[in-house]
Amino acid sequence: MKIGLCTGGGDCPGLNSIIRASVRHGVLNYQDEIWGIRDSFNGLMEKPYRVRKLDQESVSGILMRGGTILGTTNAGNPFDRPDGKGHAIDKSQMVVDAYNELGFDCILAIGGDGTHTIAHQLSQKGIKIIGIPKTIDNDLWQTDETVGFDTAVAIAEDAISRLQTTAESHERVMILEVMGRHTGHIALSAGLAAGAHIILIPEIPFDFEKIAAKVRLRQQREKHFTVIVVAEGAFAAGGEQTYQKVANNKETLGGVGHLIARELNHRYQFETRVTVLGHIQRGGMPTHVDRILGTLYGVKAIDMAHQGRFGKIIHKWKGSFGELSYQDVAGKYRNVEAQSDTLAAARSIGICFGD
Ligand code: F6P
Repeated sequence: MKIGLCTGGGDCPGLNSIIRASVRHGVLNYQDEIWGIRDSFNGLMEKPYRVRKLDQESVSGILMRGGTILGTTNAGNPFDRPDGKGHAIDKSQMVVDAYNELGFDCILAIGGDGTHTIAHQLSQKGIKIIGIPKTIDNDLWQTDETVGFDTAVAIAEDAISRLQTTAESHERVMILEVMGRHTGHIALSAGLAAGAHIILIPEIPFDFEKIAAKVRLRQQREKHFTVIVVAEGAFAAGGEQTYQKVANNKETLGGVGHLIARELNHRYQFETRVTVLGHIQRGGMPTHVDRILGTLYGVKAIDMAHQGRFGKIIHKWKGSFGELSYQDVAGKYRNVEAQSDTLAAARSIGICFGD
């Protein structure tokens, strides 16, 4: 088969393990031709097409490298392209034409929900596509774990552990703001792993009084420091999520850590400092978990292509690999469930969720 391969949306550690496994399995066992497409579907939207043939040599040594050798973008929606005059136009037919002209038999699209939404629309226009899940947020519907999540948790866990010691030395409240979009998977896992005292996630709106009560309770126990991990999407009960402006008047989630710090400093007189971990969570070497998960997803996606199972996303759910249809995942997130074992265990050991 002649297979196109692209990475879309925000990058994460582990993407290269998917690329490497797809190329090696396809070339070694099926004599496939695998072509890397540059910068998601953008590589097919102008001529000359930005594609290159990937062989074993081109994926050698990339297993431990973060990022993606194919480049990525979260401004790569062919159905919604800026026309330079302030309007959006549909350039999806260019992708279909490129696919046909290049003689692809299918495309493996590695991405999060944005990429999968585009892939679904392209599959309705006749492109044979298989989706592979990645995102540090771990929020893909009915998917145990996405590539990138484990590494992001490990990085956040390390940051929280470091904040513990300086918090204790200075008797401060330390807040770490982590990513996760509308879900609290990173905050919950990293917070639990690193002994955070308060974890704030979007699934559980918080109350400043409850946070202050936990800090005071610790003070009464002669623990004059508190470490809080807050997911960027968390918000106060009755309030709203916090957004910040980035380039081109776009807004992204962020700033809730500073908002909480202002309250704790001024309303409650707790000496508080904030660290925003940001894109550090998406950089650097993947953990062994992400490398292995990426390798399995890459191998299984190539097998799916040879079995003709297109228009689907490969996933791992309740421990087993399977497939999801694009319709199943469209517009849905996997949240931290109220009955989650991790959440229950965290509450059992006294971690406060601000509720
Ligand atoms: O979806 C991954 C993610 O890192 C989110 O956790 C975060 O909200 C967003 O991407 C940041 O996007 P950008 O790279 O555009 O700042």
